[in-house]
Amino acid sequence: MSNADTVLLGQVLSFAGDPFTDGIDAARIDRSGAVALGAGKIIAQGPADTIRAAHPQARVVDYGSDLISAGFIDAHVHYPQTAIIASWGKRLIDWLNTYTFPEEARFGDAAYAGEIAQRYTGLALAHGTTSFCSYGTIHPASVDAIFAAASARGMRAWAGKTCMDRNAPDNLRDSAQSAYDDSAALIAKWHGAGRMSYVITPRFSPTSTPDQLSALGALWAENPNCLMQTHLSEQVDEIAWVKSLFPSARDYLDTYEAHGLLGKGGIYGHAIHLEPREIDRLREVDASVVHCPTSNTFIGSGLFDMGLAASIRTGLATDTGGGSSFSMLRTMAAAYEVAQLRGQSLHPAHLWYLATAGSARALHASHQIGNIAAGMEADLTILNLSSTPAIAQASAHAQTLWQQLFPTIMMGDDRAIRATYVAGVKTV
Ligand code: GUN
Ligand code: ZN
Repeated sequence: MSNADTVLLGQVLSFAGDPFTDGIDAARIDRSGAVALGAGKIIAQGPADTIRAAHPQARVVDYGSDLISAGFIDAHVHYPQTAIIASWGKRLIDWLNTYTFPEEARFGDAAYAGEIAQRYTGLALAHGTTSFCSYGTIHPASVDAIFAAASARGMRAWAGKTCMDRNAPDNLRDSAQSAYDDSAALIAKWHGAGRMSYVITPRFSPTSTPDQLSALGALWAENPNCLMQTHLSEQVDEIAWVKSLFPSARDYLDTYEAHGLLGKGGIYGHAIHLEPREIDRLREVDASVVHCPTSNTFIGSGLFDMGLAASIRTGLATDTGGGSSFSMLRTMAAAYEVAQLRGQSLHPAHLWYLATAGSARALHASHQIGNIAAGMEADLTILNLSSTPAIAQASAHAQTLWQQLFPTIMMGDDRAIRATYVAGVKTV
């Protein structure tokens, strides 16, 4: 066993499998557990006595009855929308035109991009989020800014330049060629630099010409180890617009498929109003979908079908700033509520899996992040399960750890985050 420099004691939550396919017992909580850390990795986890005896030289940090979890992974965010989160009263296309595009235009100023990237990464860590997959704006410097901020904080991050060459204001349009060239240059600069991964990012079919979609499809074929992210079937009006823009497409997903933008490593945000063919194709190619529940209720988009998670890689995300919170706890609560409205009951183990190991799987990073196991990167979130008087009184009479945890899922926020570790270093 390698040397550990630190041993954390607490209630340790980990996954031996996927609760959606293997049952909720795939989630394990060791009430008197320990996690040994060294050189940025998890060296071992297990019962406190065993781990302490195996690493007598390590510094011990005793978190008592706090929960030790893998850090949260936000699988779909727009960091440039940080400042316009919770803007009142619009549906998707109005909301984009009224709030989002004017704010994204400000990212032509690299200093502003740097300021918001700092602010976003600080807020993410304060909420226990150690990794994220973000859209930039059309400006390459917006991607430099978020990768620089995440690198400085040691976080594992995914991001890409958002590409749009139609149906957007003049100052927010690129072209098929410049989208290809700028994205290629950013791949060369950032993909695989430390913990950074580039994601090819056409915003969604309505804001890309077929030429631009084809150019980005070609770029993905040339860089198959990059992920590709976009939006899919978020609102009914949006789907009707896509149909009018692509009259020969079989469905929304086909607008991507026809241009080389469907495949394993494709990350499709929202994916609410899917046709049976679309579900079959996503499953066949082993693509990922991302559930954004606070956004889907806030913008009035619809109720995601949690049944997809049994057969399709499914991540969970805030969708900042269409989503109304930076907190993956609040996001889990919204996922629970949306499932209830569809007659689907999610156990806390399902919710926690989605916010950690499930998002890691959606991002093809299960071997690195999203779980507590020897060899994984030491990104951890420590949670106080009695962080407010309301939560404390509700969890006080719990019989099981899941009952103790559930009030924090439903009512918790950044006050529940006792500490956040990134690559073994305590940052919050
Ligand atoms: N569809 C295209 N762009 C966006 C965006 O920025 N937010 C959301 N929620 N949906 C989108
Ligand atoms: Zn989005």
